[in-house]
Amino acid sequence: MSTPSGTGPAKIRLRHLQDAKERGRPFAMLTAYDQFSARVFEEAGIEVLLVGDSVGTTVLGHESTTATTHQDMLTFTGAVARSVSRPLIVADLAFGSYQVSVEEAVRHGVDLIRAGAEMVKLEGGSAIAPQVRALVAAGIPVMGHLGFTPQSVNSLSGHRVQGRDTHAADRLAEEALALQEAGASAVVLELIPAHVAERITEVLHVPTIGIGAGPACDGQVLVWQDMAGLSGFHGRFVKTFADLRSDLRRAAEAYRGEVETRAYPTAEHSFE
Ligand code: KIV
Repeated sequence: MSTPSGTGPAKIRLRHLQDAKERGRPFAMLTAYDQFSARVFEEAGIEVLLVGDSVGTTVLGHESTTATTHQDMLTFTGAVARSVSRPLIVADLAFGSYQVSVEEAVRHGVDLIRAGAEMVKLEGGSAIAPQVRALVAAGIPVMGHLGFTPQSVNSLSGHRVQGRDTHAADRLAEEALALQEAGASAVVLELIPAHVAERITEVLHVPTIGIGAGPACDGQVLVWQDMAGLSGFHGRFVKTFADLRSDLRRAAEAYRGEVETRAYPTAEHSFE
């Protein structure tokens, strides 16, 4: 399969992200959790699909990603992996599935790869460097995640921009370097000032992927329901590129109206 424009590799691999950084070519990552959205994003040329633990809040109705389980991640990773062939598939290690020990991190990482992921993402810096090292040694590519890390929402006292003061910014840069040193092949930077993300992007050899981290990152990621105007979330860092919520409501209202007036189904939709 080729890209919508007919150019580019038939399959996105880790090296293509590294190549994009080296060429200064920004790339787009979107979350995906099911076959139809994943296929649409593949058709749109999205190079990286993240089966995020945000599936817990966007699909499963939880308050926080801390409720998303390893089994949830396996189910939704499998759904996406069976549906697309071109994008690089990254899956989150669920809260509690990698913090306890290096062994658990590797075991759960292996499960995600078996479910169809090609890279796993975990949150945190130097504290999880041993896990990153062990995953990489097991042949599992790792994406780090720094700044606002949703699985730590309770210790971070809510959704807050991180790294605002000089000390915190320096610390973020050190943590990013620690992840790279441990073998991470990319790092998500969430909710940090643009100038801090720019500095980290300059010092890292591996790509940074921003969400609420300004324009200097090597790639960008958004939760698809936010990007497409389905969730109704309008955080400052989100741009909505469609109004799916209104479109879907209109479609459901039209359907209800036609059922209630017997305008649908007609003979055309019926069998002899
Ligand atoms: O789970 C998720 O959607 C994420 C993104 C916010 C990067 O981790």
